Amino acid sequence: MSSTEILFRPATLGKLELPNRIVMAPMTRSYSPGNVPSDLVVEYYRRRAAGGTGLIITEGTCINHPAANGYANVPYFYGDDALAGWQKVVDAVHAEGGKIVPQLWHVGGIRRPGTEPDKTVPGFSPSGMAVPGKVTGHAMSKDDIADVVAAFAQAAKDAQAIGMDGIEIHGAHGYLVDQFFWEGTNQRDDEYGGSMENRSRFAIEIIKACRAATSPDFPIIFRWSQWKQQDYPARLVTSPEQLEEFITPLSDAGVDIFHCSARRFWESEFEGSELNLAGWVKKITGKPTITVGSVGLNADFLPTDGTANFREAEPASLDKLIDRMQADEFDLVAVGRALIANPDWANRVRAGEVEQMAAYEKDMLLKLD
Ligand SMILES: Cc1cc2nc3c(=O)[nH]c(=O)nc-3n(C[C@H](O)[C@H](O)[C@H](O)COP(=O)(O)O)c2cc1C
Repeated sequence: MSSTEILFRPATLGKLELPNRIVMAPMTRSYSPGNVPSDLVVEYYRRRAAGGTGLIITEGTCINHPAANGYANVPYFYGDDALAGWQKVVDAVHAEGGKIVPQLWHVGGIRRPGTEPDKTVPGFSPSGMAVPGKVTGHAMSKDDIADVVAAFAQAAKDAQAIGMDGIEIHGAHGYLVDQFFWEGTNQRDDEYGGSMENRSRFAIEIIKACRAATSPDFPIIFRWSQWKQQDYPARLVTSPEQLEEFITPLSDAGVDIFHCSARRFWESEFEGSELNLAGWVKKITGKPTITVGSVGLNADFLPTDGTANFREAEPASLDKLIDRMQADEFDLVAVGRALIANPDWANRVRAGEVEQMAAYEKDMLLKLD
């Protein structure tokens, strides 16, 4: 097997049959006026499928809760128009032989009043905080929690109904589910706060409700991260033992694939082992995992210049990735910015053109193509 060929082995992960190991990472693009995926969005995803991407995870798409959204022009995953828009995306991706799942999203306390759909609705979060110690929004009641769990389940059901190949639950990056996980923003004194078991209860209820709302083999991917947009060095777990305590109940609740979001895939997660985050989760749960973070690029994506711009980066060798894949550390590899810059990234890797690909430049976000 030539070295990059390892990325092009088909994968059968439960019901999900993928032509190769390359996944498009979820990336918010804000080209859905009226919160409906436009024809531009259909074409954008179609091109990535035609370019050889095995599995597309859509940009975050909001579940049906008044406080789920935090940004203008992002797509919703409810309402006839938005679901019809997604249906077109699904059909276009399938026509190219690709697979696609929506990333189901609730931003939690990141939402500010003034945001669509109802500008008077504040951010909802476990303790009214998006940032530790600063109460800026509404602390969720148990009824609110039940509403959000039900909205995730409905979205999962709708995803299956329009032919999506599974779902991804967004449990990462300091948004709502992660605000429950993180002690910094979860200061509740009921059964949803305190111990790790309690802080995971909300996520577990969402996973179980999504499982119950879909057929037993409908793939559920769960994305989580140590880092938070509010605090890049934050960590939910600092040892393999803590990771086991955290991840096993999520796995038992019905997750099929864990998407372990890190900024640099080559970094070892805990001292004394080379394994990265996805490697540890695979080792502990025995479930398939997706790695991510600067694949094919020479710099990680988080802004360092005080702006909201994701960092620019040049193409870089895949050798370290291939070494880890050969060691069976993870199953799938998600690619973010490099797939914005190169819709045919997968096909070009296969053609041996890694070094010739386009660099990622921040102006690429100014149009959708
Ligand atoms: C423009 C942009 C938008 C993003 N939006 C999301 C999102 O909606 N949901 C999510 O989980 N991650 C989001 N991310 C993070 C990516 O999924 C990915 O983890 C990150 O870009 C690292 O991969 P990369 O180094 O290959 O770009 C976004 C990243 C970028 C660059």
